[in-house]
Amino acid sequence: MSLLEVDRVNAYYGDSHILFDVSMRMEACETLALLGRNGAGKSTTLKTIMGVVTPRSGAVLLEGKPIHGLAPYEIARLGVQLVPEERRIFGELSVEENLELAALTAPRPLDPAQIFAYFPQLAQRRKHRGRALSGGEQQMLAVGRALMRDPKLILLDEPFEGLAPVVVQELMRAIRRLAEQGRTIVIVEQNVAATLSLTDRCYILSNGHIVHEGAARTLRQSHEIMSRYLGV
Ligand SMILES: Nc1ncnc2c1ncn2[C@@H]1O[C@H](COP(=O)(O)OP(=O)(O)OP(=O)(O)O)[C@@H](O)[C@H]1O
Ligand SMILES: [Mg+2]
Repeated sequence: MSLLEVDRVNAYYGDSHILFDVSMRMEACETLALLGRNGAGKSTTLKTIMGVVTPRSGAVLLEGKPIHGLAPYEIARLGVQLVPEERRIFGELSVEENLELAALTAPRPLDPAQIFAYFPQLAQRRKHRGRALSGGEQQMLAVGRALMRDPKLILLDEPFEGLAPVVVQELMRAIRRLAEQGRTIVIVEQNVAATLSLTDRCYILSNGHIVHEGAARTLRQSHEIMSRYLGV
């Protein structure tokens, strides 16, 4: 049984049909990329998994049990965490408080010390307010908040967006460590090279359709698919 299965999902915003029979699966301990151009439907796919968008047809199964139709907080309680593009950390709270708040309603939360082991830079900033952090540190904190709940599945929406290359490298190291420890991670990105170097398998979305599925290594070598669907 896959950890998560998205089965022929159709999703809409009002009358606009956005996702067309999207099917994907994620195996436990796998790192997966979901790639595609602007507006392809990547964020909508993550929101559908998280229950922010309810599919009009199709199913989302977590460990074989349907979760489509549940509220986002219920899906979070079952062990799925989305780190959205806009990060949503609390600017007025300290790094530590942000982490503690994220864990409040978790059944088995981690200790902030475990997050600081992944992101040593955050440890030095533990007493600083969220809004005083750099973009990279804010992204680390956003990932750290998701990790506090010890999720089965982590969905990262454009984690590298707007970050300097050196910060991207640091975040990549942390994500790689998470993957090595057996976490299941989905990365949505425009930074195709960085993402493919981190992931085992990838899907490509184009205009709301899955147009490619395969090993990340194979895609790296397929210039034709890369240029047709990703423009790289
Ligand atoms: N709240 C919304 N209401 C109406 N249409 C929306 C909404 N959010 C997204 N869309 C539209 O749905 C389509 C898919 O958007 P989505 O955000 O899933 O794409 P994406 O692949 O994440 O793109 P990007 O790379 O720009 O983040 C786009 O055409 C977008 O304009
Ligand atoms: Mg998006």
